Amino acid sequence: MLEPIIAPSILSADFARLGEEVDNVLAAGADWVHFDVMDNHYVPNLTIGPMVCEALRKHGVTAPIDVHLMIQPVDRIIPDFAEAGATTISFHPEASEHPHRTIQAIRAAGCQPGLVFNPGTSLNYLDWLLEDIDLVLLMSVNPGFGGQKFIPSTLDKLREARRRIDASDREIRLEVDGGIKADNIAEVAAAGADTFVAGSAIFGADDYATVIKRMREEIAG
Ligand code: DX5
Ligand code: ZN
Repeated sequence: MLEPIIAPSILSADFARLGEEVDNVLAAGADWVHFDVMDNHYVPNLTIGPMVCEALRKHGVTAPIDVHLMIQPVDRIIPDFAEAGATTISFHPEASEHPHRTIQAIRAAGCQPGLVFNPGTSLNYLDWLLEDIDLVLLMSVNPGFGGQKFIPSTLDKLREARRRIDASDREIRLEVDGGIKADNIAEVAAAGADTFVAGSAIFGADDYATVIKRMREEIAG
C-alpha cells in the first residue's frame, strides 16, 4: 500500500484569503491541494479555473495540486491546467467523448491522469483504461458541493477498485472524495483508499493541524 496522502479540498477554504489558507493547511501537515473545477454544466456549481491554479503557484505553493475536473467538455482546458502548474488531472470519463484520448492528452501535457467515478458510475471504465492512469478517484457524494454526507456503498466500491489496482503491476493511487471526516476515515482506509480528500472536515475546523493529525492516526489504525 502507498503512503497515505491527505488532500484538503480548497472548495471549503475562504476564497478571499486563498493563498494564506493553502499555506496554512500545508503547514498543518496536508500533502496535496485538492482543486475542484466546476462549470455549472456538468455539475450545478461554478468554481475556479487555471488562473487560480497559476496564482497559487506564483504565491509559492510547491505541493502537488490535484485538479479534479467536473466539466464538460474536458479536453480543451487540459493544456491550460498543465501550464498553470497542475500535478494530477482527473476527469469523469462520461464527460469525455473519448476518455482514452483525454488520458493521453493529460500525459502529453506532463501531468498524471486520473479517472473519477460518481456514486452511480460503474467501474467498468477501468477495464481498458486502468493501465494508462495514475489515479482512481471514487466520489463518495454526488459531485458539485462540499459538506455532503458520505454514501456508504462507496466502501464496497473501494474494495472492488482496490482489487483491480492490486491486480495491476503499476503504482496507482486510490483516492476518495466526499464526506470524509476523522470519524469515518478509518473504515475508508480499511476498504482500500490511500488518498483522502476532505474539504469541510478540515477547513471547517478551528485547528487544521489537529484534524489532519487525527485523520492520520485513524488511518494508521
Ligand atoms: C465535491 C468535491 C469535493 C468536495 C468535498 O464535488 O469534489 O472535493 O469539496 O467536500 P467535503 O469533504 O466537504 O465533502
Ligand atoms: Zn473533488
